[in-house]
Amino acid sequence: MHARQYLDRFETLLGVTPVKTLTVDVLGRPRSINLKLEGHNITGSIKARTAYGLVRGLAEDGLIRPGVRLIESTSGNLGVALATMARYLGVGFTAVVDPLITTECLTRLRDLGATVVMVEDPDPAGGYLLSRLAKVKQMVAQDDAYVWVDQYNNWRNPEIHRQMTGPEILGQMPTPPDAVFAAISTGGTFAGLSRCFRARSPQTRMIAVDIKGSVAFGGRPGKRHLSGIGASRRSSFLDPGLIDHLAFAGVGESAYYCRAVLRDSGIYLGGSSGAVVAACVRYLAEHPEIQNPLCVCADGGEKYESTVYSDAWLEAIDERAAPADVPG
Ligand SMILES: Cc1ncc(COP(=O)(O)O)c(C=O)c1O
Repeated sequence: MHARQYLDRFETLLGVTPVKTLTVDVLGRPRSINLKLEGHNITGSIKARTAYGLVRGLAEDGLIRPGVRLIESTSGNLGVALATMARYLGVGFTAVVDPLITTECLTRLRDLGATVVMVEDPDPAGGYLLSRLAKVKQMVAQDDAYVWVDQYNNWRNPEIHRQMTGPEILGQMPTPPDAVFAAISTGGTFAGLSRCFRARSPQTRMIAVDIKGSVAFGGRPGKRHLSGIGASRRSSFLDPGLIDHLAFAGVGESAYYCRAVLRDSGIYLGGSSGAVVAACVRYLAEHPEIQNPLCVCADGGEKYESTVYSDAWLEAIDERAAPADVPG
């Protein structure tokens, strides 16, 4: 079968992920929030869409050939999605990861037949991203069978979210959300969504959610503990015109909202989704006019039992699961 046919088949398995409406307590008042549950995607996260957009582009550029080996720096979810796609396409895949990867993701990558290369040295910005990228560049320079997917700079990363994720949300909600909250790491998801909403629902406020210690769009570098959200380098995709507000979440409040949503609704959110809900609750406290917010929840909680759902892990990083610090 030709690569394009495998890609068409993969596309039929992507989306449409559910939007669920919950009630959360904000300053003692019930407020509605909508959650776009990307953990329901094939491969378990929003990165299935990103991987599809990136690999489809490589195929269009004629780079998916027998004998090639895809390579990417990944905090986990994109790696799992690329490993799945590499199997579809019958090519190899090498994931360059760091110690923040969850054990659940690491096991899944190996189950999917990926070669895993672990970097051990943190970079000067308090994360591992720059170390991972240096390792990828070194490996690509040494062996021309490698094809670097490059989620950090490849324009097809935001483009798939502009073309697919944004329109899917607009088609699912009876009225467009008045505010969208999404986590940033490469910034691809947010940049693509924002371009879509700016064009089709310009009144929607776009709120980017980062984690303390990340420099994905400004901010002070520092040690980070959550995987999937934040970055040690500035995003290549985000510009000020795409962001109405930038919120920084802490690990404790992210863990608190993961647990609160699970307890109150049975929905099992991943760590970055807890950060997004925390930022949303804080924003709602300050903006009573927002009535129909949407939180993009990048993945589900299965991979985070040993981190945000673990009291021992929170204690070890000197945090506790505490709610967003809202005024009032
Ligand atoms: C857990 C998690 N959070 C947030 C994001 C958003 O990241 P990015 O800015 O790279 O699109 C992702 C990936 O899409 C993710 O896997």
